[in-house]
Amino acid sequence: MSPVKVVICGAAGGIGQPLSLLLKQSDLIAHLALLGVVTASGIAADLSHINTKCKVTGHGKDQIDEALQGAHTVVIPAGVPRKPGMTRDDLFKLNAGIVRDLAEGIAKNCPKAFVLVISNPVNSTVPIVCQVLKSHGVFNPSKVFGISTLDVVRASSFVSEVNPAIDPSTRVTVVGGHSGVTIVPLLSQLPNNFVDSLSRDQLDALTHRIQYGGDEVVKAKKGAGSATLSMAYAGARFTLGLLQATVAGKTGVVESAYVHLDADKENTAAFKAKTGLDYFALDVEFGREGVSRILKLPKVSRYEQALLDAAIPELKTNIAKGAAFITDSV
Ligand code: NAD
Ligand code: LMR
Repeated sequence: MSPVKVVICGAAGGIGQPLSLLLKQSDLIAHLALLGVVTASGIAADLSHINTKCKVTGHGKDQIDEALQGAHTVVIPAGVPRKPGMTRDDLFKLNAGIVRDLAEGIAKNCPKAFVLVISNPVNSTVPIVCQVLKSHGVFNPSKVFGISTLDVVRASSFVSEVNPAIDPSTRVTVVGGHSGVTIVPLLSQLPNNFVDSLSRDQLDALTHRIQYGGDEVVKAKKGAGSATLSMAYAGARFTLGLLQATVAGKTGVVESAYVHLDADKENTAAFKAKTGLDYFALDVEFGREGVSRILKLPKVSRYEQALLDAAIPELKTNIAKGAAFITDSV
């Protein structure tokens, strides 16, 4: 196992800094390259004093090529966060171009890298990355991921708050996308008939809290941004899980991810034909090459089917908007 180079784009930001701190502690990473707008050299100098083997370097936007060259994995938390009253889709006009330009840099400098997208709106920014890579003939659907792990992390926390007998580490399956109605928690998958222990009002409240957990943080931060620390935790969990599979060869690592369904045509063909969706968040098992398997959507309850029915048209709109941002400009 040889440790690898990981690039954080937007490393000086609210997510970028704690995410870099968490990743600096991994022995699967030999080199952490921190890309900022002007530079991330201050953050890099600070982190480089931590006595782990991982080397840390800082780069500005005009040094994007050197930052990305040789990257095994590129994590993208670059962009603008929400303020109260905004939807994630309101960020599209600000973040679509930032993500496109970073994807161009990836296509040019590290076309085989794993690309992990955090920048919102994830439902649209992932199609942007995929379209850019396609336009350069270097798209591999097994290597591009929208990180929707925070929805799973939140769902686990909120379920455990409702029923403290359920350990907060218990995994909850959350599928769909990463915004409002597109976030579909499958609480019927939880053991011991958890969902049957809830009244309809409790189920509605818990589902709503998982779907709109991001708004809770945006509101509490009063204009100073959105979730950063919980996102850094979720982003590190996802990145390290992927590295464990791709670098260390660990099997059985599963995380929820918003992916292009062609990453596992066999398991997703029927779902794709039924819904007409190209992208969807599902549990994904990692392998040496990224996606090794997309787990099929489990049998859902009537309640969850209604959530899916609301999510699908919204997702289609978000995906089409992201894809068109690239295809209409070519
Ligand atoms: P932030 O403003 O604190 O940090 C973003 C950083 O990106 C800034 O330092 C900015 O200078 C930098 N940046 C902008 N353009 C860049 C470029 N071209 N190259 C390099 N760096 C660039 O914001 P934040 O709180 O860290 O959030 C970042 C993004 O993550 C937002 O879009 C937010 O909505 C999103 N987010 C996603 C999730 C999720 O679950 N996927 C969770 C939380 C936040
Ligand atoms: C989140 O879920 O916390 C992020 O997507 C940030 C946001 O805008 O809510």
